[in-house]
Amino acid sequence: MVCLGNICRSPLAQGILTEKALQAGLPWIVESAGTEGYHVGEAPHQLSQQVAKENGIDISMQRCRQFSPEDMRFYDKIYAMDQSNYNDIKRLCGKNWQEEKVKLILNELNPGKNEDVPDPWYGGIEGFRDVFEMLDKACEKIIEPHQFHSS
Ligand code: 4NP
Repeated sequence: MVCLGNICRSPLAQGILTEKALQAGLPWIVESAGTEGYHVGEAPHQLSQQVAKENGIDISMQRCRQFSPEDMRFYDKIYAMDQSNYNDIKRLCGKNWQEEKVKLILNELNPGKNEDVPDPWYGGIEGFRDVFEMLDKACEKIIEPHQFHSS
């Protein structure tokens, strides 16, 4: 899960997908990173922590880190929150770029629309709640094909 600062959006995405994978019994490694290093080592934004908590998810132990080209090798899937994150990942990876692994996360929900998860950094709690809702729906789509259905 990749955004610009790894402080607002991608920590929420990490928390949400981690929780859904856990509930589905999937042994997935879910991580997040930022394309910039402004906040490396910091905990997620207070409002991201609050909105996660309102939804029963604790993201307080997460610490910001910067995206590295090694992540492209290690992970099967890289989700960008918006188009500029996508372009920055491509730039940071250089020759290690693997197009088939990288996707705009909202394309899981609305395929082909290339929609951005808006950056809530400059706004209030409502923006963070909107981001949570979008990411929750997108992560549900990511999990769906891997879920075991009894009956
Ligand atoms: P994020 O939001 O990419 O969702 O973590 C931002 C966090 C920090 C900054 C910008 C966006 N910043 O300019 O420090």
